[in-house]
Amino acid sequence: MFVLLIIFNNMANYTLNINNKKYKVEAEPDTPLLWVIRDKAGLKGTKFGCGAAHCGVCTVLFNGYPIKSCTISVAATTPETKITTIESTDYKNLKLVQDAWIKEQVPQCGYCQSGQVLSAVSLLNQNPKPSNADIDNAMTGVLCRCGTYPRVKKAIQTASQKLNG
Ligand code: FES
Ligand code: FES
Repeated sequence: MFVLLIIFNNMANYTLNINNKKYKVEAEPDTPLLWVIRDKAGLKGTKFGCGAAHCGVCTVLFNGYPIKSCTISVAATTPETKITTIESTDYKNLKLVQDAWIKEQVPQCGYCQSGQVLSAVSLLNQNPKPSNADIDNAMTGVLCRCGTYPRVKKAIQTASQKLNG
């Protein structure tokens, strides 16, 4: 009996701009951006939770706006797409927000926190003086099983005061 084994090689080459650094990667077009960031670029600060757009722990910034990287394929990026992860060292207001996070002792287990921080940075870059309602609206995308929501809100207010001080 003959067994015919056909292997489909669907790999393609992509150039990604992550944290202002170019990464040339080979991946199948439908590979979620999350796995390219973690496994090809080696940036492990972006986490996997549900894989189905529910938890938000995979949140990164896509041209400055939070997206769930488990839901977007690598083929949806271009070399011009600016992808920002928690490892960025120079993204606008990321350090300021991280300092506020430390001041308010926000994290508990920490698993959701890269998504929380990046969502907060995006909010403050668009709206440096957010109201409580603005904060609530902007932060609905990332769930925290440890319930750090009050400290997340306090840290955003602290960062906002610093920004506007
Ligand atoms: S892992 Fe992406 S939303 Fe949960
Ligand atoms: S700090 Fe533990 S899930 Fe948010």
